[in-house]
Amino acid sequence: MKVFLVVGARPNFMKAAPLVRALEKHDIDCRLIHTGQHYDKDMSDNFFEDLDLPKPHVNLSVGSSTHAEQTAQIMTSFEQLCVGTKPDVVIVVGDVNSTLACSLVTAKMENIKLAHVEAGLRSFDRTMPEEINRIVTDMLSDYLFCTDYKAAENLYDSKDVMGEVYIVGDVMVDTLLYSIDKISPQKSNEPYVLVTLHRPSNTDNKNNLEEILSALSKLAKNVKVIFPIHPRTDKKIDEFKLRKHLENIETHSPFGYMEFLRCMKGASVVLTDSGGIQVETTILNIYCVTMRENTEQGFTLTEGTNVLVGSDGDKIYEEVMNCLLSSVPACSILNKERKTLYDGQAADRIIKILMEV
Ligand code: UD1
Repeated sequence: MKVFLVVGARPNFMKAAPLVRALEKHDIDCRLIHTGQHYDKDMSDNFFEDLDLPKPHVNLSVGSSTHAEQTAQIMTSFEQLCVGTKPDVVIVVGDVNSTLACSLVTAKMENIKLAHVEAGLRSFDRTMPEEINRIVTDMLSDYLFCTDYKAAENLYDSKDVMGEVYIVGDVMVDTLLYSIDKISPQKSNEPYVLVTLHRPSNTDNKNNLEEILSALSKLAKNVKVIFPIHPRTDKKIDEFKLRKHLENIETHSPFGYMEFLRCMKGASVVLTDSGGIQVETTILNIYCVTMRENTEQGFTLTEGTNVLVGSDGDKIYEEVMNCLLSSVPACSILNKERKTLYDGQAADRIIKILMEV
């Protein structure tokens, strides 16, 4: 079996790492294909180092552009690659534009199966580009690997999903469990809030971004705030002339995987608009305040340590302060089924299934 494993953007790398290990363990011929959607050292190379990922066999080097241009460029290059090398299976992970582009190409090629890892997640918010990417990728996939029962249910509910559905657990959790004991929490003699922010709905609208940055500035009067800034957000802060709000905040360029994990492990609260961090904080029992109106990781609200606050500055401030002042430590109440699924072996289950089909 010849496999192409596709990565493109930051949240793909930690999902690919355990799959690479499982493919190697079973001696499967695997080519790691990097689309180049993310290309800065901070957003890509550092993750390869931290996660012991091998150098990609091919980098399509598409870089940044509009959604349509980026998707089209990935498709054109990836199609040539598939025609030349003819893999048996293409594995895509997550919900970024690289996931969608390579899925569209694979689905139209003869004799190549498409496997989607992290299938079935839904925010039911079609204004999110990731939701569109998830829906289309799932419709096109032959094998759909779900993190949990809810994700599988979302697929069973959809008339347009044709592939085989498997509940295997979460490869991102595989990486978290694999890495967490290797690091000690960030040393700090005072509590701190760790912030990540990059969703276009928060960053590309001046009012929303100002509302959020004002809340951070207000928080920084009470507690240390650590903010590694995504390049998209950094550019928007300059474009909207909002840098003054960051005066009392400890800002950084984006952290690598291990550095972020260390910082997250020691944080009192994580304030974020990421999808994956909602899950990681739940596993680590850390309060998470999410600057979104909805989430594709609903269990983090009911079983985990997460709360949604949107981009309302007052709500952000109040909820983070509530968490900071709470006398009860954050504690997730993961049900038995989920605990079984989060055993660090999701990638191995996926590869074993692919070897059998
Ligand atoms: C992408 C994903 C998002 C994911 C996020 C993680 C899509 C639709 N979105 O969003 O789901 O949560 O990655 O980071 O695929 N840029 C750089 N250097 C880089 C990469 C990006 O400067 O290495 C800047 C460019 O100005 C670019 C902007 O960031 O235009 C946005 O990058 P892009 O990959 O389009 O989307 P993200 O916001 O990173």
